[in-house]
Amino acid sequence: MNQENQIRTPVTIIDKEVTWDKTQVIMSKTNAFGIIEYANEVFVDVCGYEDYELMGQPHNIIRHPDMPKVIFKVLWENLKQGRNFHAIVKNLAKSGRYYWVITDFEIAKDENGVIVNYFGRRQSVPQEVIAMHIEPLYKKLLQIEAASGVEFSEKYLIGFLEEKKRTYVEYIKELILEHERALSKFVQYEEEEEEEEERGFFRRLFNR
Ligand SMILES: Cc1cc2nc3c(=O)[nH]c(=O)nc-3n(C[C@H](O)[C@H](O)[C@H](O)COP(=O)(O)O)c2cc1C
Repeated sequence: MNQENQIRTPVTIIDKEVTWDKTQVIMSKTNAFGIIEYANEVFVDVCGYEDYELMGQPHNIIRHPDMPKVIFKVLWENLKQGRNFHAIVKNLAKSGRYYWVITDFEIAKDENGVIVNYFGRRQSVPQEVIAMHIEPLYKKLLQIEAASGVEFSEKYLIGFLEEKKRTYVEYIKELILEHERALSKFVQYEEEEEEEEERGFFRRLFNR
């Protein structure tokens, strides 16, 4: 990675959300190391950087300081194994504003099975899910990281999920489903809900 590329103008954090069309899918493509090679127009619009400011940059250009390290640790452990991962992530726009998303990945390998590219798709997440469940959890993880490091935020996350008898992905899937039920949205899915598998749920969410 080119060190010079990493020198960026610091972004001043603003506690305000980016206004964006939440029906849209934010998409980017990286190489195996998470260096951005492509971003769709929605990505560019939402994060506020120009294409030329994004290409060749590490994806953490939009990393928000409110994000606990442990979430990216688990994300990368999955990606490097060639597994999709759905994470709820707070991102930082160039303006200093934030936007919350849920991720979906496709992983491209060469003929030897070596990962060459990652395709990341992101959708918006209901505000209620963030405010009631994700923000309090991430805040706790961040505090633990500051006090004792990522080793212990990971232990806390494992304990938290063990108590719920869920994986992280199952947990966030359930939060979003609960929210949908409360809104009585997606009524047509009601009968299938119990049966809906994880893959089916995220396929529906990401329209693919
Ligand atoms: C395709 C792809 C998309 C990613 N999208 C995001 C994203 O939207 N926001 C983010 O903070 N990190 C994203 N990441 C993870 C970053 O590469 C990085 O791990 C993260 O920002 C944390 O920064 P750090 O690893 O330097 O601590 C993505 C990675 C890949 C491979």
